Amino acid sequence: MTTESYFKGDVFHTPTDGKLEFLEDALIQVDPAGIITKVIKKTDKQYEKACQQADITLSLSKGQCFLPGFVDLHVHAPQWPQAGIALDEPLNVWLDECTFPLEAKYADTDFAQQVYEDLVTQLLSRGTTTVLYFATIHLEASLLLAKICVEKGQRGLVGKVVMDDPQANPDFYRDASTEAALQETEQFIQSIQKLAESAPQGVYPVVTPRFVPSCTDEGLAGLGALAQKYDIHVQTHCSEGQWEHDFVQERFGKTDTEVLKDFGLLKEKAVMAHGNFISPQDGALFIETGAAVAHCPISNAYFANGVIPIKQLKKQGVTIGLGTDISGGFSPSLYDNIKQAVMSSRMLEDGVDVTRAQHERGVADSRISVIDAFSLATKGGGDALQLPIGVIKEGYAFDVQVIDSRNQGNPLPDFGVFTTSEARLQKILYLATMQNIRQVWVQGKKVHDKQGE
Ligand code: GUN
Ligand code: FE
Repeated sequence: MTTESYFKGDVFHTPTDGKLEFLEDALIQVDPAGIITKVIKKTDKQYEKACQQADITLSLSKGQCFLPGFVDLHVHAPQWPQAGIALDEPLNVWLDECTFPLEAKYADTDFAQQVYEDLVTQLLSRGTTTVLYFATIHLEASLLLAKICVEKGQRGLVGKVVMDDPQANPDFYRDASTEAALQETEQFIQSIQKLAESAPQGVYPVVTPRFVPSCTDEGLAGLGALAQKYDIHVQTHCSEGQWEHDFVQERFGKTDTEVLKDFGLLKEKAVMAHGNFISPQDGALFIETGAAVAHCPISNAYFANGVIPIKQLKKQGVTIGLGTDISGGFSPSLYDNIKQAVMSSRMLEDGVDVTRAQHERGVADSRISVIDAFSLATKGGGDALQLPIGVIKEGYAFDVQVIDSRNQGNPLPDFGVFTTSEARLQKILYLATMQNIRQVWVQGKKVHDKQGE
């Protein structure tokens, strides 16, 4: 008896950055650990025989397809209740008056449980299979978020946030001291590594200074040492807006990127949120250290004070994925962020001030396609986290969304006109809603099924 399971249907993915590969009615073989062991194409010699012999778990019908599960590189889990709220304020006012009072509430684990359970469920139902989460400064509630990811089958990378500078943070929401922040971070790392023993899809601890302005030099250095000692992921905000960029220049006489590197925080498996102001010199440091950027296009439209030149950074060789930045970004959907990534890049290229002559209005060669943006949300995320996810191929986790273009709630008809594989995917990326996400699988396990709702 075979121990493998089989899935059959059309596949869209980008095994090479930004290059769409379409596999018609492929047969995907998955081992008991949820890893893809073979993708048999319709043109392969053994295809017919393999299809006859396979006991197929899920065979898609016409109008349905597999997409890789999305990888969200930047979510503030505690800010979920605040999604869509107070977005007319500048970042520092939004943080001080709205966000910090909300995040302080997670001292109460009952409140945390309620919010985190809902958030993880909602992200899964939008096709997001892996998430890099900021929690709060609280050890217990941060551990709870990781446990909820494990229970619900999502691949979670979770950080207890550090904000240890008493000068920079409100008394009601900061670490008790630098020593306490470091000691609790280490305790958090060890607890998550223990929890990971019972999480087949993986759960990972993440070293998480909120951003340079909220941390002391000792705090940042201590966190850099912990990241080194345990060889784990790091996340923070880096050069998000003009204020942060200038603040760090003033304090250190260096860019945010250089400062993070000095403290040992710019490294392999480090994901820097936003990076809107990083220069080509900073980009070279990202490449040298193996760090990546989490592009958060909806949030950036509100708080960045500019548009990040994604196309140029990618050309330079910087690894980039996509993030919602709940709740700086109001939408929990990476579909929405894919669209905004395209639109922001188009506005950067064309420019926005029509009183200027057309040729001096924008930044040439800046636009990305919707397929590029899809690649950021899938392969880009996997590359940034250095995990075998985001592509449907041998050796990668079977993390997929089953898309149904014929769902009655939101049918996506092509009227037999636009039938190329690229057109089919474009239509899905621009027009699909939750109605069209029929099932979601993480590491070979079904974690969302619309039928069951
Ligand atoms: N910089 C520091 N904290 C935050 C946050 O919570 N959201 C955003 N967008 N930027 C930040
Ligand atoms: Fe953020």
